[in-house]
Amino acid sequence: MSDTVHLKQLIDRLEGSRDLSDAEFTELLLCEDSEVTDYLAEKARGVREKIYGKEVYLRGLIEFTNYCKNNCKYCGIRCGNKNAERYRLSKEEILSCCDIGYELGFRTFVLQGGEDPYFNDDRMVDIVSAMRKNHPDCAITLSIGEREKESYQKLFDAGANRYLLRHETADKAHYEYLHPKEMSYDHRMQCLRDLKEIGYQVGCGMMVGSPGQKTEHYIKDLRFMQEFKPEMVGIGPFIPHHDTEYAGEKAGTVEMTLKLLSIIRLILPEVLLPATTALGTIDPTGREKGILAGANVVMPNLSPGNVREKYLLYDNKICTGDEAAECIRCMAQRVSKVGYTVVQSRGDHIKYR
Ligand code: 5AD
Ligand code: FES
Repeated sequence: MSDTVHLKQLIDRLEGSRDLSDAEFTELLLCEDSEVTDYLAEKARGVREKIYGKEVYLRGLIEFTNYCKNNCKYCGIRCGNKNAERYRLSKEEILSCCDIGYELGFRTFVLQGGEDPYFNDDRMVDIVSAMRKNHPDCAITLSIGEREKESYQKLFDAGANRYLLRHETADKAHYEYLHPKEMSYDHRMQCLRDLKEIGYQVGCGMMVGSPGQKTEHYIKDLRFMQEFKPEMVGIGPFIPHHDTEYAGEKAGTVEMTLKLLSIIRLILPEVLLPATTALGTIDPTGREKGILAGANVVMPNLSPGNVREKYLLYDNKICTGDEAAECIRCMAQRVSKVGYTVVQSRGDHIKYR
């Protein structure tokens, strides 16, 4: 049997919800034959269309603080970066982003920020409650890092529905390589379990091509996802930031990110899977390629224009100059060019409708 035929059979097995061995996953992840990767993307699209049709869901991303108490080695807003110009949006500014977003058709708001101690439980509950009151028909997603379970519970009770917390890597040693010693792999994983227990729709995920990452790590990530069954998965290429110790490292590739997106779609058919800004940063049509590889979510930036350049996790981030309205128009055009349609809906996971 030729390699191509053999690899296509592996893809058929994944599509049929059957597992692959580590060796088989490795073959697929290392394969660069475009006949095989096209086949993989086609299968992933088929699965996504069976469940979510041609719809692409919008999330309005509000980057409300770039203060962060953590010092992740890869991240441009880590506390150790003294060159980062810090900002915080006020409650009023956040609410005004939501109002603008609502008018533009967004029905999900994602509050994303560094781990900023200023936004303690009282302040976050106040903001989330106000968002819930002003826009009862919208989903509220939080992406504010590791907190205690009681805190997650309070925010859920205040009206938050979803939570994004990338696990970054499902290999403990690799996690410790990417993070300073104050950070704990076990605590991060505990947070993900807590969020799920509380009833959030939960998103995990990792960077692709991060320093020290090997094929075996991707396999662990995939196995972790198979077991944890997140409602959302956020993946995007690692991109070096000039003020980090990884400034000289290579970025992750479009090809590997697309392969992983497709494999994730096949192992978690119902997952909400964004084509991320990082993917659009390393390739001008990266997000379109992501959608064609099985992604079904895009997250245009709703942050006020004057802070966008400051929320710089990695270099050359796109969309920092555009206004919200421009961003969404541009996204809608990009999506329809590849045969899909941006819709005005909360875009919940199918099990939460
Ligand atoms: N390149 C790509 N993604 C990054 N993130 C942080 N720094 C980088 C980088 N240099 C991702 C992490 C984090 C998310 C908010 O952004 O995965 O969880
Ligand atoms: Fe906060 Fe990296 S330092 S996410």
